[in-house]
Amino acid sequence: MPNKPGICFVSHNKNKLVEIRQLAPEGFDFFGLDELGLNEEIPETGSTIEENSALKAQFVFQRYKIACFADDTGLEIDALNGEPGVYSARYAGSGNNSVKNMELVLKKMEGKENRKARFKTVITYIDKQGKHHSFEGIVQGHILEAPKGTKGFGYDPIFKPVGYKKTFAEMTMEEKNRISHRSKSFNKFFSFLNSVDG
Ligand code: IMP
Repeated sequence: MPNKPGICFVSHNKNKLVEIRQLAPEGFDFFGLDELGLNEEIPETGSTIEENSALKAQFVFQRYKIACFADDTGLEIDALNGEPGVYSARYAGSGNNSVKNMELVLKKMEGKENRKARFKTVITYIDKQGKHHSFEGIVQGHILEAPKGTKGFGYDPIFKPVGYKKTFAEMTMEEKNRISHRSKSFNKFFSFLNSVDG
């Protein structure tokens, strides 16, 4: 199959890029910000996950006028009015410290009966004509009272998806990928790319 034109993934995270290349259908060529030569941090000043995802993609499209996409993920907890949400990475302060972030969530959740929460990923894709497309992936679950499991990252040890006995941190990467917010949004995105370019 001939290669389809490259699409920029608006991220400096090399691990994510590797993961996306593995998940993507054959023939797509994704490249990251480092390959584009963009070294600066893109401001994430939105007040929602949707806004931040769009802001990041817009930043690159406005500067380079190329097809690009950005993703943004957050954990929304009902009893905390949707927090940490857009602040998931820096909930307990700058530095993206997962242990401190989880500790803060567990402290705020002390005594709360409603433990319902969801992970949400939003992908914003801007095609080469400048048209925006958005793809959402959600997984519903509950916040435990103490961390369980050592795999994964971020809030995985305190999040148990509905219908499962394990937290995300007790699942293998394959198990988590089968049901995760991120894979749901990426699968929608890839199906879309296949339908328009294939
Ligand atoms: P990002 O938008 O993918 O960088 O995610 C923002 C923050 O949300 C991360 O720093 C993590 O704290 C949290 N997060 C995102 N995805 C996951 C996940 O799959 N499991 C646990 N935490 C996550």
